[in-house]
Amino acid sequence: MASARDVLESVIKRMSVFKNKEVLYPEYIPQHLPHREAQLKQLAEIFRVMLTAPGSVSMRAMLVGGVGVGKTVTARVFGSTMRSLARERGIDLRYIHVNCHRDRTLYEVVAEIVRQIGAPIPLRGLSPREMMLALLNYIERNDIYALVTLDEFDYFVSAAGNDAVYFIVRLYDEYPEAKKRMSFIFIARDLSALSQLDPTTESYILKHVIKFDPYTSDELFDILVQRRNAAFYEGTVDDEVLRYIADMEGVDRGGEGNARAAIEALLLAGEAADYEGAQKVTIEHVRKALSHVQPDIVRVSEILPYLQLHELLILKAAIRVLRRKGEAYARIGEIEEEYRSICQMYGEEPRKHTQVYEYVNNLKKMGVIEARVSGKGFRGRSTLVSIMAPLDALEKQVDSLIEKRRTANRKRLL
Ligand SMILES: Nc1ncnc2c1ncn2[C@@H]1O[C@H](COP(=O)(O)OP(=O)(O)O)[C@@H](O)[C@H]1O
Ligand SMILES: [Mg+2]
Repeated sequence: MASARDVLESVIKRMSVFKNKEVLYPEYIPQHLPHREAQLKQLAEIFRVMLTAPGSVSMRAMLVGGVGVGKTVTARVFGSTMRSLARERGIDLRYIHVNCHRDRTLYEVVAEIVRQIGAPIPLRGLSPREMMLALLNYIERNDIYALVTLDEFDYFVSAAGNDAVYFIVRLYDEYPEAKKRMSFIFIARDLSALSQLDPTTESYILKHVIKFDPYTSDELFDILVQRRNAAFYEGTVDDEVLRYIADMEGVDRGGEGNARAAIEALLLAGEAADYEGAQKVTIEHVRKALSHVQPDIVRVSEILPYLQLHELLILKAAIRVLRRKGEAYARIGEIEEEYRSICQMYGEEPRKHTQVYEYVNNLKKMGVIEARVSGKGFRGRSTLVSIMAPLDALEKQVDSLIEKRRTANRKRLL
């Protein structure tokens, strides 16, 4: 007779077409980027000097293109590859990725760079300029180089303004004697945001522009093949299913050329198949999935990987309260209560009330939740929180990120 373990395992295995679903999540970084070789090559031309003559000159490049065309992932893959090439040459090159949708003031951006480099510089009480000066001293003393990406740079330009952009872009004009240890990649959807800058600053940024065009159907097909092979059990997703998605999204077929939407469709189609207990993902599953894809979840899931553990725990609390109540809004007090019990469940120390409030503000600022102050009720005024994306899909992503953060924290403590 089969052991209980075998029985369970055979059922569990059969219950999913996925062998590694994480491969389809937005934060997954593939090793190979089909159809972005040209952009990687241009980046290499611009930044090769960081390896051949480190410290001699500070470079800047601007990556431009619409949503889901691989700007962020290309910068990340380039950065991590540069880091390992540098290491082989005995150079300590750090890759820093800042999302300006999240950190959009000069202070926040500089503080984030300081944090990612791990420089022991107090973040309170210093102006951004003082912090930057301390940082430049720190990397000089410790012989560190940094390639800094300011992603969603459009937000920084409109929120921080000309002087802040000028400061970043012409950093070494202020310290002409300093070794040029920091270089920058800027990423934006289009260049129109830059027109509000003064012409000198603008021309400085636009020295090296790398364009990312929307993907064609054939290109998306290649990207999907790579993900399918890594994410699904063999034989569960036929090429024709991928072809169908690629044709829906390909720019040459009237789509947006958005790889994120294509990968998301594949994920949702797989989930639809699992939900029905089907052995294979069919075009009908894709159709069902696409009718459910809402732009909100795509936008929100892009920002989730940048959230801290306790922001994620609060978001999870909000999701649970909203689902339980079945209403559009939940009071922040209820969410905080739920957050405390979730913390207890995970064995995490809950943050203080003021900190929780700050996290909620952050989540609002990033557009993950909506928050507004209620009219005066019998309990007085209260902040009301609402979430626009589908709760179940969102919670799944939040859960997987919480696990990831907790594992990372545990490793750090060991
Ligand atoms: N050439 C590619 N090869 C593999 N995956 C890609 C490629 N281009 C984009 N992706 C994937 O598509 C999604 C969107 O890419 P992303 O870099 O976030 O787009 P953007 O920053 O331009 O909005 C990510 O999951 C990314 O890994
Ligand atoms: Mg991006």
